[in-house]
Amino acid sequence: MASEQPSARVDFDQPSIARVFDALMGGQDHYETDRAVVRQILEIAPEAPAMTKEMRQWLVRAVRYLTERLGVDQFLDLGSGFPTVENTHQVAQKYNPEAHVVYVDNDPVVQAHSRALLVDNDFTHISGNDLLRPGETLADDTVKQFIDFDRPVGLVMCAIIHHITDFQQAQQVVKSYVGAMAPGSYLVLLHQHNPDDGSEAAGVAASLQERFGSTGLDTRYRTRAEIASFFDGLELLEPGLTAPHLWWPDGPRLAPLTPVNWTSLCGVARIP
Ligand SMILES: C[S@@+](CC[C@H](N)C(=O)[O-])C[C@H]1O[C@@H](n2cnc3c(N)ncnc32)[C@H](O)[C@@H]1O
Repeated sequence: MASEQPSARVDFDQPSIARVFDALMGGQDHYETDRAVVRQILEIAPEAPAMTKEMRQWLVRAVRYLTERLGVDQFLDLGSGFPTVENTHQVAQKYNPEAHVVYVDNDPVVQAHSRALLVDNDFTHISGNDLLRPGETLADDTVKQFIDFDRPVGLVMCAIIHHITDFQQAQQVVKSYVGAMAPGSYLVLLHQHNPDDGSEAAGVAASLQERFGSTGLDTRYRTRAEIASFFDGLELLEPGLTAPHLWWPDGPRLAPLTPVNWTSLCGVARIP
């Protein structure tokens, strides 16, 4: 496992989206300032931890499908978070122990923990680049060393693009990475969603967007049309752009659905 980029200083008085996500997922890598944000989220959506796990379970199914069924053996995971709780490398390397995974995350705590956790893993690497700078990220030594851009790549953007508040910039960022991938690569994207239909879910999405914003962790809950635009020109696999629980579930649903289940959309698309 290799690591580039010196870590920035950590401000433990400010919440971090990586640590808040970890707290929602039931992980160990969070501090009181992050848990305070989680408590605020729970006031609006008590089922947010279960939903966060459903998002991860979707990522597991998508990476498993690409590795096991389509033979994808290299993944570039942007805004990857802590490499715990069944993240991309654990899933890909379960089906192909030599699958290469490069994580990109600019959170210094994520980078430090990743280095420690992945020290014995020769096939998983982390870059500390800012994913908002696609040119620099794609030219990063770690990325270039372990991802062969002449062959298909699983390009993972799970729960990250909604943190780019400017829609045009979000579109441009996705387009830049997609444009650098070889034909036969796949985009794996999950984004927060506002159904914008007067439903309870739409109200929850609007409240969550407002609450995240008030904590400094800006998040945009976008419409279906906006999220679909990230897949423009790509070949969406069945079942298309869906809520995570509807994307090839592993079996009959056990837990009841709640409004927050409808506040994410996800899809996997082939890059022609
Ligand atoms: C909500 S978490 C999602 C983690 C993971 N993809 C998942 O689905 O579980 C977003 C992650 O993106 C990282 N991130 C946010 N902005 C970033 C940026 N500009 N460059 C690199 N990483 C970023 C955060 O540090 C955090 O770990």
